[in-house]
Amino acid sequence: MKRLLGKVVVVTGAARGQGAAEAEALTREGARVIATDVTDAPGCRRLDVTSEKEWAELAAALGESYGQVHGLVNNAGITWRARLDDVRPEDFARVHAVNVTGPLLGIQYLAPLMRPGASIVNVGSTAALTGHYPVAYTASKWALRGLSKASALELGPRGIRVNTIHPGFIETEMTASAAPAFREANIRETPLGRTGTVEEITPLVVFLLSDAASFITGAEIPVDGGLTAHGGVKSVSEALKKH
Ligand code: NAI
Repeated sequence: MKRLLGKVVVVTGAARGQGAAEAEALTREGARVIATDVTDAPGCRRLDVTSEKEWAELAAALGESYGQVHGLVNNAGITWRARLDDVRPEDFARVHAVNVTGPLLGIQYLAPLMRPGASIVNVGSTAALTGHYPVAYTASKWALRGLSKASALELGPRGIRVNTIHPGFIETEMTASAAPAFREANIRETPLGRTGTVEEITPLVVFLLSDAASFITGAEIPVDGGLTAHGGVKSVSEALKKH
């Protein structure tokens, strides 16, 4: 039984990584997926999430073609690994524009096409739950949590759900661009002792977009192998095991 049969779902940042995997998984579940990205990719419609004009054009096109939208996955995101002393205001603003203003515009332009039962999934990060060192990225993902909570409150009376997922270290081009030490340290801090795959993200996105999640809104769900569950005490526990 396909769980998203006939649902019209927009995915941002769908050219690769988690977004591409989400678009594929949603399609398998019967959704009519509008895969979008700022880069040209086969099967993707161009959408720079920071462009109000492009969101307006997409909303108009969807209104004309389908009359409504059932789902939005605000997945597009960028990182910037400068530390506190090095981060520049322009980089802080650039990361915020993609990771926070992008989802805001997506919600503003697509929610008017949504009816009761529609669902929005915002892709946060374990950086949104911790004091992760890349400060522009971390601040943007914490801001996205605020946007998600406020949107869940605002859109609840219209029957539109808004939830946030928080991936841990997932093997994509984004994480491949980090130093090997970043990956190794993440694995050490993860109770499951490994990194995650895009296929381990998509089932939650499918579920949250489906009617099976009909009473879930304003929620935040880590998909992180336990990284954020231990609050930094994993190394303490392991150190004491040796004594
Ligand atoms: P990725 O870098 O492989 O893919 C991101 C996609 O977003 C790319 O296709 C890129 O072209 C697109 N994009 C960038 N700027 C855009 C813009 N202005 N408008 C439209 N599309 C744009 O990254 P990945 O890993 O697939 O990340 C997806 C989401 O998951 C992001 O929001 C990221 O912050 C988040 N995330 C990733 C984690 C990981 O370990 N890979 C961990 C936690 C969160």
